[in-house]
Amino acid sequence: MPPANPALDTASDAGAPAEAVTPLIRGVAVLHTLTDAGGTLSLSALERTTGLARSTVDRITSTLARMGYVRLDGRDAVLTPRVMELGNAYLSALRLPSLLAGRADVLADELDESVSLAVADRDGIRFIHQATRRRAMSLSFRIGDLLPAERTAPGALFATEWREPEWRAWRARRAADPRDSGFATVPPRQSADAGGDFEERVRAAAGNGWSLDDQLIEPGLVAVSVPVRDPRTGRIACAANVVSHTSRHTAAELRETLLPRLREAVRRMESDLRTPVRATAPAPSGLATWTGASKQELGRGFVESLARGLTVLTAFGEGRAALTLTEVAQATGLARATARRALITYEHLGLVRARDRVFELTPRVMGLGFPPLSRTSLPEIALPHMTELSELVHESTSLSVLSGRDIQYTARVATGRVMSVNITVGTRLPAYAASMGRVMLADLTDAERELDALTPLRPLTRHTVTDLPTLRRVLDEVRAQGYALVDEELEEGLRSIAVPVRDRTGRVVAALNVAMHAARHTVEECVRDILPELRATADRIEGDLRVAGRFTGVTVV
Ligand code: PHB
Repeated sequence: MPPANPALDTASDAGAPAEAVTPLIRGVAVLHTLTDAGGTLSLSALERTTGLARSTVDRITSTLARMGYVRLDGRDAVLTPRVMELGNAYLSALRLPSLLAGRADVLADELDESVSLAVADRDGIRFIHQATRRRAMSLSFRIGDLLPAERTAPGALFATEWREPEWRAWRARRAADPRDSGFATVPPRQSADAGGDFEERVRAAAGNGWSLDDQLIEPGLVAVSVPVRDPRTGRIACAANVVSHTSRHTAAELRETLLPRLREAVRRMESDLRTPVRATAPAPSGLATWTGASKQELGRGFVESLARGLTVLTAFGEGRAALTLTEVAQATGLARATARRALITYEHLGLVRARDRVFELTPRVMGLGFPPLSRTSLPEIALPHMTELSELVHESTSLSVLSGRDIQYTARVATGRVMSVNITVGTRLPAYAASMGRVMLADLTDAERELDALTPLRPLTRHTVTDLPTLRRVLDEVRAQGYALVDEELEEGLRSIAVPVRDRTGRVVAALNVAMHAARHTVEECVRDILPELRATADRIEGDLRVAGRFTGVTVV
């Protein structure tokens, strides 16, 4: 029997080269296991699934927590958005998402069907972009998901480049795991030979230059794929796929009606691939130098070789796809010998490929936490940080977005009932009289503000600012000082202070506040004691949002 979880193969260091770093092997196994479990697993389930001792699981998870890659929530370990920096390192080094995602999105809009980009990952395929049309009918895969090549359209295209060793590995996998139990995201095969003759489909794909998936994964799900070739090498860089459902298109219709437009889009993608690599930010340095202090502080609870090893992956990035050992040592600040052992470990685990003295990340790096987080939302990102803030200041905290003239609550951690209105997620309040509303209104251009966001101004209490010129002045002040404090204007006895939450581009996408009974803190205390913690929390949320939003669309609600 094959292990239900491929991480089991790697949790032990059996068969690893002598120089491989055992804690790194185990840490990677824990990340794989959490990923396949959907992002959350109890520590005892981690112990069972990886076969590691409980004390080892504890030390690995506390090291990952210090790195910001997991959160320990009672008995559970939960992957956090920051772990996506590992997948981001691969995707930015690859460059394909930044070069091609825009075209995929345009095609999805044009066809009103889902469009995806996938790369070959050994005898599987791995998604690097998804422009998903939300439909209830079928499964939709996430960026980073791994599928068996023979049950997909792009898999047949990639296999046209396989030689005997790849075919042998594929046959061995099929024999060892006839029902695909090693693939966490596909339904198990109904029968061991479902999917017809893969080799036949590969020959057809080689002849046609396209490939079809006629319900190979599940009934109803159909896809057509075209290879996007690297103009320099002529080899397949990735595959572009149009995905539909038999209730809209049969596989034959996909080929007849949508394939020509997919091919046209792929021609444009191939010309985009001629874009030379841009000179980007200066090479990073000293990425791993923080680990010594954490070791001092946490002692046995911090596995320094794991933290250093994981940092090696983040040395790669845009314009840094192929690095020499010297470059990896420089970027991380690790001794060459240390960096070399980490790279040897990764090569053994299939996360790094070495050729001609340079090292490259493989698509498998995406399996370290990316898929479960690739559809996260801003409220999900914010909530754990808001809980910490609320525990720290002993007051309620909320997140909201601007929706017309209102703010709409999207997340909330309440410490008790401070307001007479019962606020829950979804509650709307007039923006002009709320602290969160004011920080979001303050970020609008004058024209946007004037459109209709500011009228009518009704007095909600005897303190509400209802005079437009005064409100404009207040908003200018809010913009200049970076926060809004609203004192009993929304409700008697309620004081609240809010700061903006900005996305990677600097745009305000939400606001975060702390609300309290006016008797509990003076205005001065609010600014002196609460504002710095509120700002620090918003900074943490923005930091996570930057990592999570680099290659995936994080929804704000
Ligand atoms: C997808 O993007 O969800 C997809 C692509 C190709 C397939 C199946 C699904 O063959």
